[in-house]
Amino acid sequence: MGRPHALAIPFPAQGHVIPLMELSHCLAEHGFKITFVNTDFIHERVMKALPDDSKNKNQIHLVSIPDGMGPEEDRNQLGKLFECVSRTMPSYLEELIEEVNESGKDKITCIIADEHMGLAVKVAKKLGIPQAAFWPTNACLRALIIRIPELIEAGVIDANGMTRKQEMIQLSSTLPVMDTTQLPWHCFDDPMLQQTVFHNLFTNNQAVKDADWLLCNSFYEIEPSAYPLNPNLLPIGPLLAGSRQRQLVGNFWQEDSTCLNWLNQQPACSVIYVSFGSFTVLEESQFHELALGLELTGHRFLWVVRPDLSAGQAATYPDGFQARVADRGKIVSWAPQQKVLAHPSIACFMTHCGWNSTMEGLSMGVPFLCWPYFADQFLNQSYISDVWKVGLRLNSDDNGIISREEVKNKVEEVLGDEKIRERALTLKEMADKSVSQGGSSTKNLNDFVEVMKGK
Ligand code: UDX
Repeated sequence: MGRPHALAIPFPAQGHVIPLMELSHCLAEHGFKITFVNTDFIHERVMKALPDDSKNKNQIHLVSIPDGMGPEEDRNQLGKLFECVSRTMPSYLEELIEEVNESGKDKITCIIADEHMGLAVKVAKKLGIPQAAFWPTNACLRALIIRIPELIEAGVIDANGMTRKQEMIQLSSTLPVMDTTQLPWHCFDDPMLQQTVFHNLFTNNQAVKDADWLLCNSFYEIEPSAYPLNPNLLPIGPLLAGSRQRQLVGNFWQEDSTCLNWLNQQPACSVIYVSFGSFTVLEESQFHELALGLELTGHRFLWVVRPDLSAGQAATYPDGFQARVADRGKIVSWAPQQKVLAHPSIACFMTHCGWNSTMEGLSMGVPFLCWPYFADQFLNQSYISDVWKVGLRLNSDDNGIISREEVKNKVEEVLGDEKIRERALTLKEMADKSVSQGGSSTKNLNDFVEVMKGK
């Protein structure tokens, strides 16, 4: 039998590429050959962000196919992206698979696709190739999506996912309470976009229903009651590079590693790390208030300000801000986040609660300050602050702004709360255990590998 060869297909967004890339590295370490299929647009960004000396030195073969959008079109327009990707990519994917299989080298033996790319699972089925769907966030959200027909039946949402009135729903007594006005698809201003995202989540969930394997980037111990609600879903996370020196992470921006040297010079447990992932956009007024809040805390901070974090154009700081905080604040455009969170100088993590950031902070035992923006992040916030109790919410005022005083007060509160720190360290131990030898996620991944190697 030839070498097992997996084709990995992420949804074209940063928070989806990174965990699937890490899963690909893990499979490569188990002897798989990996072909990683990005869209042309994302491929170009990943290649540009890769350090020059590591472009041809990794165990994963990177290829790309078109996403169906024009070169100048905005890929942050999720509705358009979903539509173009599902219309365009299946035929390119089929062509790519045929090309690989006819090349005389190792044939594709399995396809691992993000669940948001249900189209790839359909292509795999059509071609008779074993498939796995990869769910990049928590199992509770997936259970909610499975239950969409019941929610419609019960009148909680209508057939387009719209909510008639605010209600609190809970799928089981140990899972987070969800506000129906904050369901993942409700976090967009445009009602058409809400409906597109809603229908895509449900359609993709249906498309992968009878995939051979369903994997997710979570671990059993943090949400045990979500798994009986998700038949056959296998948690294999947290998928983190850990101490492995990966060159290829799948970053869309070049990492600024100078912040690690800066962290080396700070006292233990003294720095607030502030980062809102790859997609969050703050209004200019909110951005200013956050800057003034960080200043008001009087603490050291490391702040990731992506070139597109502030709505409009490049971020402008309050007058004199950078000079006033120069001796205790460091700002970078993209950080090596996992290394930052593992650094002993980090005291807490102010985050948008993206699932990867949540898994990363949790695996490093860092207390959280929650500032959710969209999609699953409100649910992730509930896990952090209400279920696991390892962080606090930042609340907005009547004008929808998180004030500088709120930032200061919550920083003081989280840093002064020993119980939060203890619980964070307990969760870190649980996360470490799940991915160590004999741990629940390692066992699930090994079962998957064994079967996929045998096929
Ligand atoms: C999105 C959604 O927000 C998230 O909830 C969903 O589950 C996946 O897609 P994103 O908003 O980018 O992702 O957030 P997150 O899931 O936290 O992923 C961001 C990734 O970028 C993390 O792996 C983080 O380590 C990395 N990152 C972020 C960096 O490497 N450097 C940075 O400076 C900031």
